[in-house]
Amino acid sequence: MATHTIAVFASGSGSNFEAIAEACRCGEIDARVALLVCDKPSAGVIARAERLGIETLVISPKDYTSREEYESVIADRLDACGAELVCLAGYMRLIGRVLLERYARRIVNIHPSLLPSFKGAHAIADAMAYGVKVYGVTIHYVDESLDGGEIISQRALDYDGTDEEELTSMIHSVEHKLYVETINKLINNR
Ligand code: GAR
Repeated sequence: MATHTIAVFASGSGSNFEAIAEACRCGEIDARVALLVCDKPSAGVIARAERLGIETLVISPKDYTSREEYESVIADRLDACGAELVCLAGYMRLIGRVLLERYARRIVNIHPSLLPSFKGAHAIADAMAYGVKVYGVTIHYVDESLDGGEIISQRALDYDGTDEEELTSMIHSVEHKLYVETINKLINNR
């Protein structure tokens, strides 16, 4: 039986979600993923969660009158499942006051660049267009800003090619390892 409980938020394909869930399943992380929160009913991550038997809350902000109301529903579900740590894994939405207050310093995000460079939804393409030769991944505490908040861990990656697909796949491999290592450090230090 795992000691800790985590929740993952995602909006996309969910490769990071699966890496985390798999590490939990095989005991590499001493936690269970109790809940996936997804804000996009068409996201690929939902099928991954189904396959892995992980409870999923699909919730669209469009169905709520305010961000506060939307986040209160999520926060209640996080409380109900006893989440100690919330890991954003390609969750393409800013986190607001309700979740930040209820889960202060318990929400972390992964971003595919060496922050503070290349914030936003197109970090890899932006870094490539800029012509950088050292790419990377950052995991940070979440605050109200876009890809802001105190940095927890970073890993660099050399790449001198022009194939964005190849680079994206290399960055994802780094992300999956770094997220598992970082979650382990965070839950074991709590
Ligand atoms: C990941 O590369 C993650 O770092 C990025 O979205 C991707 C999700 O991939 N997040 C951001 O850009 C946050 N600003 P995945 O759905 O395969 O895990």
